[in-house]
Order: sequence, then structure tokens, then C-alpha cells
Amino acid sequence: MVDPRRLAVLVDAFAGALGQQPDLIARAPGRVNLIGEHTDYSDGFVMPMAINRDVLVAVRRRDDGQVRLHSVDYGGVSAFDVGDRVAHDGSLPWANYPRGVIHVLKTIGAAIGGFDLALTGNVPAGAGLSSSAAVEVATIEALDALFSLGLKTFDKARLGQRAEREFVGVACGIMDQAIAAAGRAGHALMLDCRTLETTLVPVESGLAVVVTDTSVVRGLVGSKYNDRRAECEASTAHFARSRPEVAALRDVTLGEVEAATGALGPVVSRRARHVVSENERVLTAEAAFRAGDLAEVGRLMVASHESLRDDFEVTVPELDLLVELACAVDGVYGARMTGAGFGGCTVAIMPVGVVDAYVAEVVPTYRARTGLEPRVFTCTASDGASVVG
Ligand code: GLA
Repeated sequence: MVDPRRLAVLVDAFAGALGQQPDLIARAPGRVNLIGEHTDYSDGFVMPMAINRDVLVAVRRRDDGQVRLHSVDYGGVSAFDVGDRVAHDGSLPWANYPRGVIHVLKTIGAAIGGFDLALTGNVPAGAGLSSSAAVEVATIEALDALFSLGLKTFDKARLGQRAEREFVGVACGIMDQAIAAAGRAGHALMLDCRTLETTLVPVESGLAVVVTDTSVVRGLVGSKYNDRRAECEASTAHFARSRPEVAALRDVTLGEVEAATGALGPVVSRRARHVVSENERVLTAEAAFRAGDLAEVGRLMVASHESLRDDFEVTVPELDLLVELACAVDGVYGARMTGAGFGGCTVAIMPVGVVDAYVAEVVPTYRARTGLEPRVFTCTASDGASVVG
């Protein structure tokens, strides 16, 4: 249930900036990834959970072919004619996410006319909780309903991913948009990024999923992310030369990676080792989750973090410190960085009764050792995108 006060604020802001009332409002959540990092663009496995923070998008049809976009949180109106080629907005960066969505909808020939749109969100931006995927998927959800496009859940995810890749310029995988579209309350989702087959993994109510933001300002995430992706593609190309059936690192074993270290070189082989070993950890974690063995899930999360730190090299010292501090709290099962890395958040799992001790021990120590103010969010597993008003 969306807080009615947030809906009221959005409706008021819509009327204030764009005139009149919206026809409908859609939402899509941010996400935290429990395990399976930097595996999605290698056709691998991931286990994200949609969180109880989201983006709301209000829309209303117009008959003059104009599109007007307004952000309640950042201000400004970004306008263009729906018949024109969709250009980047150089002065209102937030507008490029809905603009990217309109661009990709036009490439598939979706019958969209003019409309007004206003959006607001409470997914912290730039923290690795996928606020951009939430904007993309909420916009698609709203336009799908407004223009009766008949898009299916994973069509929405793929279109959101295309908006990010083709318009925003980050060569992301499918994970963030998939969980924003397909999340389920009370569950994480085990997602096979090759087939888009999903399995629900129950998150019991006694388990707290605690996200902590390092508050490190992330720079150049997009270009470092794209570099990692290129390194994974380079190793795939190497393996495909002798085994043409290799389409992605998903198809490679750890033994093959070890044997190819000389040919791949130290950096690319470490990247490949992360992806291949992470896929195994996700599959083992799913089984452990189902068996109720949360200590084992926690151990795998820590191993995932170490692999992201040493082999994939996407952590920063502040992420490493938060994981170390989390693991020192009595009762915490495990912790790791979550999302693309280079700053952003950690995720830790623990019994609900341990959260107070976690906050009391981790927050002051982190603050004292880094001079940064960490932000702690206890997340509950929420539903994916829907029309809410
Ligand atoms: C970002 C991308 C995802 C995924 C993660 C790393 O969130 O958008 O597709 O690659 O990084 O797991």
C-alpha cells in the first residue's frame, strides 16, 4: 500500500506544474540484491528483492502531441513533441530516464500520443538501490496503462533495460528492471538472466534485510561498469574460440578459467573467476535459503563480497569496512556490497532482534573511522510495478 499522503503530494504537484489532475498513477520499487553481483550481463543467476521504497509516476493524456515531464523532487519541466526524435535533456538530467523510455517505446512502434507526467520517489539516488530502474519501469507501467499497450511483465523489464543502455548509456544487465517489474511481497526472486525464469524465495518475517549506505559519492560508475562488462566479454570471446557453444561466462567452468589464466592475463582471468564462482554461490545460497540455513547464506554473502573486492575489484574501502563491522556484530549472518559497487550500499542479514545492536555498533564506529554518516534502511520485500491510483 502506498502512503496516501505521498499520492496526495504527487497529485497536488502535478496540478501545480502541469495543470489538471492525472488520469492514473503507477509505482515501481527500488531493489536490494541479496547475492549474484555482476553476473546478470553474463547470462548468470541473481537473487534480488524489491524493497519498500519506490518511484511514483502520475500521467495524463494530452491531445496536442506534446510531452511534458516534471520532477517533484528535482523541479523543472522537460518538454518536446512526441513526433520528434527524442533528444537528451542537457539541463535536467532526471528527465533522461523517462525520455529514454519514450525513445524505446517509439522504436517498437508503441502507439503513444502526447501526455503530461510527474514523478517523485523515495529510493535514495546514487546509492546502488536502482532508483533509475524504478523510474524507467514506473514510467513504462504508467504509459502501458495510459495507452493500453498490453506489455507483459518482462517486456517492461527489457524496455527499461534498453532505455538505460541505449539512451542513458550504461550497458546494464536485466536484474534491476526485472525485479522492479516482477518483485513479490515477502519474497526475493531467484532469476536466471538467460531464460528470465524466476523462482520465488520466501524471506521469513523474522529475518531483517538491512541496507547501509556508505555515503561515498560515486564517480564514473557508468564507465567503470562498462569496462567490467567489456572484460567479461573479452574472456567469453577467448573461450568461444575453442568452444563455439560458449555464449557467455555462464557457460564456463572454474576449471576452465584456472586453465586459461596465462592466455587471459591476470586481470581478465580474475574477472572471469568472480563471475563463474558467483554463479555457484547463488545456486548454493538458494538451496540454503530453502533449507532455512541462514548461517550458510550469510557465509556465501561474505564470500561474494570478498570475490567482488579481490577479483572483480568493484568495492571501495568504505564498503569493506561496513562488511567487516557488520560481521563483528553478534547474531549477524553475513553482509556484502550490493549493486554495481564503487560506493553505494551494503546488505546484511540478521534476525530482527539483532537490528538495534547492529545500528548501535556499526553506525558510530563507521562514522568515527571514515568521517562519513552512514544511512541504515531496514527493507521489507515488496511487490513489483503496478498501477496504484
Ligand atoms: C547494476 C546494473 C545491474 C547489475 C548490477 C551488478 O545495478 O544495473 O544490471 O549488473 O549493477 O550486479
